[in-house]
Amino acid sequence: MPSIINTTGRLEKSVRAMKIALSHSKDYLSNLEERRVFPSASDIENLKQFSEPLPARSSDPRRTLDLLAKFGGPATTATAAGRFFGLVVGGALPAALGARIIASAWDQVVFSDSTSPVGVALEKIVANWLLDLLGLPVTASAGFVTGTTAGTLVCLSAARHSLLHKRGWDVQKQGLWGAPKIHVVASEQMHVINQKILSLLGMGLADIEYVPCDENGAIRLEALPELTANSLVLTQAGNVNSGSFDPIGEIAERANKVGAWVHVDGAFGLWAAASRNKRNLLQGFENADSWVTDAHKWLNTPYDCGLAFCRSPKDVHAVMATVAPYLKEGETAAPKDMVPEFSRSARAIEVWAALRSLGREGVENLVDDCCRHAETMANALKSSGFEILNDIVLNQVVATLPGHEDKMTELASRVQQSGEAWFGPTTWRGRNAIRISISSWVTQDNDIKRTSDAIYKEIKELLN
Ligand SMILES: Cc1ncc(COP(=O)(O)O)c(C=O)c1O
Repeated sequence: MPSIINTTGRLEKSVRAMKIALSHSKDYLSNLEERRVFPSASDIENLKQFSEPLPARSSDPRRTLDLLAKFGGPATTATAAGRFFGLVVGGALPAALGARIIASAWDQVVFSDSTSPVGVALEKIVANWLLDLLGLPVTASAGFVTGTTAGTLVCLSAARHSLLHKRGWDVQKQGLWGAPKIHVVASEQMHVINQKILSLLGMGLADIEYVPCDENGAIRLEALPELTANSLVLTQAGNVNSGSFDPIGEIAERANKVGAWVHVDGAFGLWAAASRNKRNLLQGFENADSWVTDAHKWLNTPYDCGLAFCRSPKDVHAVMATVAPYLKEGETAAPKDMVPEFSRSARAIEVWAALRSLGREGVENLVDDCCRHAETMANALKSSGFEILNDIVLNQVVATLPGHEDKMTELASRVQQSGEAWFGPTTWRGRNAIRISISSWVTQDNDIKRTSDAIYKEIKELLN
């Protein structure tokens, strides 16, 4: 009779795999700063090495990891190094990266504290640290999600619930057919993911009342329509192009008088609250109702980690809970009852490591350094004849070369292909431009110089 499978020594294989993985990762990071930012054509071509039929038999894990490192690593974009300036994405701080590795070995399921005491304990601690660091209401809830898109789903579904509930409509039970309409007011500059979430939540895009913005992409307060207890106002802290901030405090003041809900998309810009130099951009933002941001953007944790904060945890619980949705004042809920996922990874571990290793001062320096680099970049581009199209209020630079605006997409593509740096093209107030977002802890003065030199070289060749 076959005996019970002997598991002794099985985890030894994991220990060996971890050593191999660490060695490959070390080699990868050691060469990353001098490596091309975007992979070469031959490195991309080599991805064909993965195109094999599903193996029929098991093999030594080392062979799989070696294959991954050999052909996968060179075909990555060097987002973890200092000259990736796309998507407002940072790298991974040393402590956060190390914590991710430890957390991978732990393989925790965050569901409730019966599945991961450490995962849940760190979530609570990190939530308090974040509310304090950012200056948000201490009783707000913090949900750990994949990114701003998922966080927006949490916040806007709580808003929808709250606004309809006040009008006697239980959207969870009754659905949306026949429900009173919510008056959605949004910046004409809002990020597209907000439209996606609104439409997922049944709030039709045709009904959005868009508010015109000023030159730098911030809501014009005088153009804000009259708000009522039925209004949901979508604002942003950090325009994805210009980095501008809506006058959130003033909007919240008006909204609070009538009981409207104000949501803040602060995917990267919310971190400005950690800087004494930049906090004024967010004046009064703590009086809004919900806020969303990404740790994987400016806090430089590894992908993917977004945070959904809500003034009224009860409203989040009402829409996300899988058990009876009631939450007493001051109580905290199991993680599974505050975000869309039933079970998920222990993202708070990396956020905890990032915050603990940086401290308050380190987060502030990270924000300030990136903003300083943005100014240096803008000045370098200006001295090469570029026009800077945005006010540099934060970490974003939008630039174009007057008379050659039609060449900006090709310019971005040429710099990407050169391997020196990575940024994308954009359109800003009807003008074609390049957009450079500086959010990485790795970026140094020399990276800014190399990037502006590369732009200068490529535009010269393009125009010749
Ligand atoms: C202002 C803003 N909102 C939303 C998003 C989407 O964030 P995510 O990709 O984490 O969902 C971004 C991404 O750059 C952004 O800048």
